[in-house]
Amino acid sequence: MTIRAVVRGVGHYLPDRVVSNAEFEASLDTSDDWIRSRSGIERRHLAGPGQTTADLATRAAKAALEDAGMQADEIDAIILATSTADLTFPSAATMVQANLGMTRGFAFDVQAVCAGFVFALTTANALIIAGQATRVLVIGAEIFSRLMDWTDRGTCVLFGDGAGALILERTEAAGTPADRGILSTDLNSDGRHKDILYVDGGTSTGTTGKLRMEGKEVFRHAVEKLAETAHAALEKAGLGSADVDWIVPHQANIRIIEGTAKRMQVSMDRVVVTVQDHGNTSAASIPLALSVGKARGQIKPGDLIVTEAIGGGLAWGAVVLRW
Ligand code: ACO
Repeated sequence: MTIRAVVRGVGHYLPDRVVSNAEFEASLDTSDDWIRSRSGIERRHLAGPGQTTADLATRAAKAALEDAGMQADEIDAIILATSTADLTFPSAATMVQANLGMTRGFAFDVQAVCAGFVFALTTANALIIAGQATRVLVIGAEIFSRLMDWTDRGTCVLFGDGAGALILERTEAAGTPADRGILSTDLNSDGRHKDILYVDGGTSTGTTGKLRMEGKEVFRHAVEKLAETAHAALEKAGLGSADVDWIVPHQANIRIIEGTAKRMQVSMDRVVVTVQDHGNTSAASIPLALSVGKARGQIKPGDLIVTEAIGGGLAWGAVVLRW
């Protein structure tokens, strides 16, 4: 008998305010055409002044609980992937726990920037396999708009805010690639690349800081490393590219998404793409895409999904799961 962590529910939340590319033309030397052609982004949602990352995460969590037909007190653990927690501590995850009225179990944040959701899913899977939890709420939530230097056209047009959530439940399975649930995971990081993507604030400066990025360098690493990690995860599951129903990639840039799909020999009609509507929402982008992909009727029970992401660190990884 093999223990699998199976998806029971999914949900998301996007702030009401939608900002089109054209809106940047008034304050920056940029254009809708440049942003679309270089990134595939057409619009993004931005959080309102009073909204917090924990608020966005709570809305997504409630949607996932409803989708699963579960109550908050049936959840044993909350893992929240974010690089934009509202306070240095406590974790945003414990704030969500309180917001949900959950008085048992445990909650913590995972910080692996844009790869955060893949790290959080892997951690949740490990907790379930180890018998530490039966049901885990895994959330990705970010307010990257608060880390933007709004005078830097090379970064501020690329990011957006949002949250997505997934509920995983322990089930007994046959131990074959036909099982539902998480089949394999692959995590990586390489701290030598800190300077190409970072936020220039924290306890060392006493400020929150702004995001700094060498876009071309990040791009180069992304296409190469994402295809590698996706292949590694598939291999661990005893599967190959031909078995994949959907790639659900981190939504940073359509050219990275297309480049990775090409290297994986998966056609773009098997890739869930939301970057045009959300921009790069960092750790929220994969659960957002899973939720939107299901709502669109793309993702169906039994489909084989590969999620892959890379972000600051660099940190990157992939998860293979059967929906
Ligand atoms: N509008 C107009 N011109 C711009 C803008 C803008 N918003 N931003 C940059 N430019 C200019 C640059 O200044 C440069 O001008 P120059 O030639 O006079 O110096 C020119 O456009 C070309 O800039 P490049 O950086 O070479 O453009 P590139 O084709 O590499 O695209 C981009 C830039 C979109 C940032 C791309 O490199 C990219 O997507 N990189 C990946 C970054 C990423 O996705 N990071 C997210 C975090 S990590 C992750 O999630 C994977």
